Amino acid sequence: MSGPLVIKIGGSTLGSADTTFRDVAGLAAEGSVPVVVHGGGAEASKWLEAMQIPSRFERGLRVTDARVLPVVVAVFAGLVNKRIVSAINAAGAPAVGLCGADGRILECRIAAPELGFVGEPVAVHPRAISALHQAGIIPVIGPIGFVPGEDSDQLVNVNADTVAGNIASALGASRLVFLTDVEGVRDGEGTTIPRLSGERARALIAEGAVSGGMIPKVEACLHALSLGVRVQIVDGRQPGILRALDGAGTVFEP
Ligand SMILES: Nc1ncnc2c1ncn2[C@@H]1O[C@H](COP(=O)(O)OP(=O)(O)OP(=O)(O)O)[C@@H](O)[C@H]1O
Ligand SMILES: [Mg+2]
Repeated sequence: MSGPLVIKIGGSTLGSADTTFRDVAGLAAEGSVPVVVHGGGAEASKWLEAMQIPSRFERGLRVTDARVLPVVVAVFAGLVNKRIVSAINAAGAPAVGLCGADGRILECRIAAPELGFVGEPVAVHPRAISALHQAGIIPVIGPIGFVPGEDSDQLVNVNADTVAGNIASALGASRLVFLTDVEGVRDGEGTTIPRLSGERARALIAEGAVSGGMIPKVEACLHALSLGVRVQIVDGRQPGILRALDGAGTVFEP
């Protein structure tokens, strides 16, 4: 596919002394403006803890009740989003922050009642992303979606990997890269797998070798892959990784 490179920046790698923001700005300066999607799970947990609200996860998804929701909206669509925008801007490329509720980009339904305000995407409306991208501005998208409502849309928390997978698919992305805090997907022995088929990925989830935050990540990879996007999970802590993607980390086999 001929669309942009979509880069998902894991919250877990934010703040480590890598070159991600410089590399993102460098790509844009060379004319290939990427689209950035980010997480921020660790930062959200930190703020929730400060407010004495416990973090709970099911199958890698944060249970989001009425107390958790305003905190994750503030952290994902606010603090983390603006930190990333500021870092890319300072690296010399224009970036504008959005979340999936802006421009009604990411339409969702409630994923499962027991998860609370967690959204499952049903449609992507990428107009706001495309407008920025065409203007040479890097869209930086935080993982909040909306469920259509009458007086107001309902904001919902969406796993950032799921957001990245859906947006990459909707844009017909040429490539989707997940920057995370491990070298790639590990097998049951802890060895990083260089090339992963869909079949083996599903087996690794079923047998529990892939767990926690890696579950939605692998599922997002399989979803985008099925729509023809090249997908890869790489170590975002490694300097210059965005400039040396070929064969790095775990590449999903079409
Ligand atoms: N089989 C596996 N291979 C590699 N990592 C795994 C595996 N199973 C579970 N993990 C865990 O998944 C984590 C990465 O997912 P996590 O959701 O924590 O980070 P992220 O998605 O990069 O950041 P964020 O959720 O903030 O966007 C790893 O740090 C590791 O602990
Ligand atoms: Mg995650």
